[in-house]
Amino acid sequence: MTNINTDKLSSARFAEATDAFVEEFTASVEFDKRMAAQDIQGSIAHATMLSKIGVLTADERDAIINGLTQIGQEIADGRFSWSIKQEDVHMNIEATLTERIGPAGKKLHTGRSRNDQVATDIRLYLRDACRHIEGELLRLMTAIVTLAAKHTDTIMSGFTHLQVAQPITFGHHLMAWFEMLKRDHERLQDCLKRINVMPLGAAALAGTSYPIDREHTAQLLGFKQPTANSLDSVSDRDFAIEFTAVASIIMMHLSRCSEELILWSSAQFDFIDIPDAFCTGSSIMPQKKNPDVPELVRGKSGRVTGHLMSLLMLMKSQPLAYNKDNQEDKEPLFDTVDTLINCLRAYADMVPHLTAKTGNMYRAAQQGFATATDLADYLVRKGLPFRDAHEIVGQAVRLGIDSQRDLTQLMLAELQHFSPLIDEDVYSILSLEGSVALRDHFGGTAPEAVKKAVQTAQQFLQTLATH
Ligand code: ARG
Repeated sequence: MTNINTDKLSSARFAEATDAFVEEFTASVEFDKRMAAQDIQGSIAHATMLSKIGVLTADERDAIINGLTQIGQEIADGRFSWSIKQEDVHMNIEATLTERIGPAGKKLHTGRSRNDQVATDIRLYLRDACRHIEGELLRLMTAIVTLAAKHTDTIMSGFTHLQVAQPITFGHHLMAWFEMLKRDHERLQDCLKRINVMPLGAAALAGTSYPIDREHTAQLLGFKQPTANSLDSVSDRDFAIEFTAVASIIMMHLSRCSEELILWSSAQFDFIDIPDAFCTGSSIMPQKKNPDVPELVRGKSGRVTGHLMSLLMLMKSQPLAYNKDNQEDKEPLFDTVDTLINCLRAYADMVPHLTAKTGNMYRAAQQGFATATDLADYLVRKGLPFRDAHEIVGQAVRLGIDSQRDLTQLMLAELQHFSPLIDEDVYSILSLEGSVALRDHFGGTAPEAVKKAVQTAQQFLQTLATH
């Protein structure tokens, strides 16, 4: 052990230096330095535990903690010099610590391996990221509910197959978005449970012969408990895959919202105005105002789903326990976090400034015989079986199409020609207001039902805010 080359990991075992390109090829510091704060947090807890079990003296522990705290500050200030020779974030920090505090630094890695260290760092990192994501998600959900509250009575056309289907309220449509995101919030909380367990102590793969106190370290780091199997702890990244799946679902939802905003802001729909600050112009067509933010979010949803596929493929053939393959988990994961946070942020900023063009929404609902179902239901209430009613209304719609009139414009005598059950009172149910008002059950589109949904949502957000 005389020729220790501090530039190279486990150097005593190697007869020759690493090829310069291989050194670059295998290094991860360029991207994993992003977990520096978590790496330091984990090391401080580990050192504290080591001193508790008598492996480090109190002085050694304090030297380590002070050294790490100082390094953490330098990293945060951008004053730390990273070296590719030290391969990754873990080795960079440990080597610098030892350089500064001497022999105590070399004891930090007792009873630990980079395998349990990196698994811990990612979990700490993701836990922090989830909190940040939750903040943006709740901000967006609040913005949506606030907009919905303004539009509980705003009538628009609802669509199926992108064809005018039935009249709905804009508030109801927005509350559908809210429900999607509410489930996403729940999924995020749920995946956090499986993120929040601590691999430290698994060491390289088999655990360690030191009398470590894993419960204590877990407690110091705010983990719910230590992981239950050392092999599993260092190897599986299912928690990261699950997180990326949750992120992909959120992005899929945002992409659907985006698609609607893009359609609605087009001249053909003209339902909403997206404020200029969230759009750009065209370099050639002076009249253009492009919905860039929704378009980019729609595009980025593909990128996040791509990361989910990458991580699944990365994991699927790995034998137990740790393999270097897993170093490849970080870039997709970090990009998922960044992309998701940025998209949620852009949406949370944009939604409060969306303006509904209520007149256009109303006019669109008047087209396409949106209350045809109401006429059928009316006939059913008068005693006709639904299938017969459906047939009769089909004939009325045909007449409307041929004479270019909507159902309210057909004469009573014309309607009675199709069924004698039709009376003067039919016109109130053919109105858009009448149509939506009838759907006042739980989950329905009636202004009264939407007001209740908005209230429930506001209470939900309020409860989370006070937690
Ligand atoms: N940079 C590595 C990673 O990201 C750290 C763990 C390395 N462990 C090892 N035995 N080479 O996975």
